[in-house]
Amino acid sequence: MTEPTFRTIIEPFRIHSVEPLRMTTREQRRTAVTDAGYNLFKVKAQDVLIDLLTDSGTGAMSRDQWAAIQHGDESYAGSPSYFLFRDAVRNLFPFEHVIPTHQGRAAERIIFSVLAGPGKVVPNNTHFDTTRANVEYTGAQAVDLVIAEGRDPVADHPFKGNMDIDALDALLRERGDDVPVVFMTITNNSGGGQPVSLANLHAVREVCDAHSKMLFLDACRFAENAWFIREREAGQGERDVVDIIREMASLADGMTMSAKKDPMGNIGGWLAMDDDELAQQCRNLLILTEGFPTYGGLAGRDLEALAQGLREVVDHDYLRYRIRSTAYLGDALQRAGVPVLTPVGGHAVYLDARALLPHIPPLEYPGQALAVALYEAGGVRSCEIGSVMFGRQPDGSEVPAALELVRLAIPRRTYTQSHIDYVIEVCEHVARGAEALTGYRLVDEPPALRHFTATFEPIT
Ligand code: F0G
Repeated sequence: MTEPTFRTIIEPFRIHSVEPLRMTTREQRRTAVTDAGYNLFKVKAQDVLIDLLTDSGTGAMSRDQWAAIQHGDESYAGSPSYFLFRDAVRNLFPFEHVIPTHQGRAAERIIFSVLAGPGKVVPNNTHFDTTRANVEYTGAQAVDLVIAEGRDPVADHPFKGNMDIDALDALLRERGDDVPVVFMTITNNSGGGQPVSLANLHAVREVCDAHSKMLFLDACRFAENAWFIREREAGQGERDVVDIIREMASLADGMTMSAKKDPMGNIGGWLAMDDDELAQQCRNLLILTEGFPTYGGLAGRDLEALAQGLREVVDHDYLRYRIRSTAYLGDALQRAGVPVLTPVGGHAVYLDARALLPHIPPLEYPGQALAVALYEAGGVRSCEIGSVMFGRQPDGSEVPAALELVRLAIPRRTYTQSHIDYVIEVCEHVARGAEALTGYRLVDEPPALRHFTATFEPIT
């Protein structure tokens, strides 16, 4: 019998436990955001209706993950929960050493403390903000070498996260001695949640081999990346995503990971690699600040939840729903004439604030203005990914970021289609009044990662 096909791709789960949302008035939201110095990171979560600040650690765990938590073994050393976790990681990424950390940036701090340092250069397709900060904190330089299409918000390319192979080769020719490792971020978060193709990963591997360099993956959204490969790359459409993930892993020498993304955890991360000596150095640092190597800053129950999450994220029904539901938001906004980065990425829709607010100069932070307006209008919390996040240079100067984006990140398995329909309406409402929005100036900022804690005032 032939299977009937239906247009609607539904959430492949039903709701088992609910969290109430708190409705607020525009007046309350205006007060909340003013008190927060116009920084949405400083707004209290109960004052937010739909929280699209991040997809990191904010997803819903499954029944089976909550059940796994009861299996958590909290032994300081050699917990069975660690071995379960390690084997779940190795099932996808068969690296010799799997080192748990409390989240991704802890893995970054450890690996760059060991490998980077003054005079060193670390290339990446695009560094995420904490990755860049951890490279720069050691005194090294973080260089982004994404393909030109990846810097153009509307260029049509199936793999806008790809590395510019010629640029990587040129950097390694010029500065090879100073490059300790090459990184690839899959999917490319700061570039719009855009995937990297298998062909590009193979090409990066070849360049790394030619220059005897290690290749590491920043693999937070590896399953979403693999699903895009399955959908978009020639010859991949029949493969199981697990095979695709293993092929990606086989091209790398190691990885850093935030388990708060595709592994479906509320907390967690890891560092993995094959090199014994490098692993030993990393473990030494781990013990100093994260914990013993079989828990690394996590509870046994966290490790259990992650092991289960790693099984769930490679489910094709889940990934089909996940990627489609993000596209649903992006497609609706495009139809409504709200400028978005295209093609739509995996975990988020990125609004193009530069296109929507051409009257606000980059250093008056159009993305910040748009994010604040979305919150004020409808209680939707988003995240500026533009000159606030990336404008301040290590030498203290300020330059406009390549793109002025506002990210609507979709927590995994958390919001329904009607929540997203509401978000679409809020965005349309704000876009209609875009001409009246004004820019912001900084009131104060910390020396690094300023977007988390800086405060602003509107330019009137
Ligand atoms: N790398 C990438 C590509 C990320 O997106 C993140 C986190 C990290 C590393 C750091 O991991 O948060 O566990 O320390 N991204 C979150 C976000 C915070 O909102 O995109 P972490």
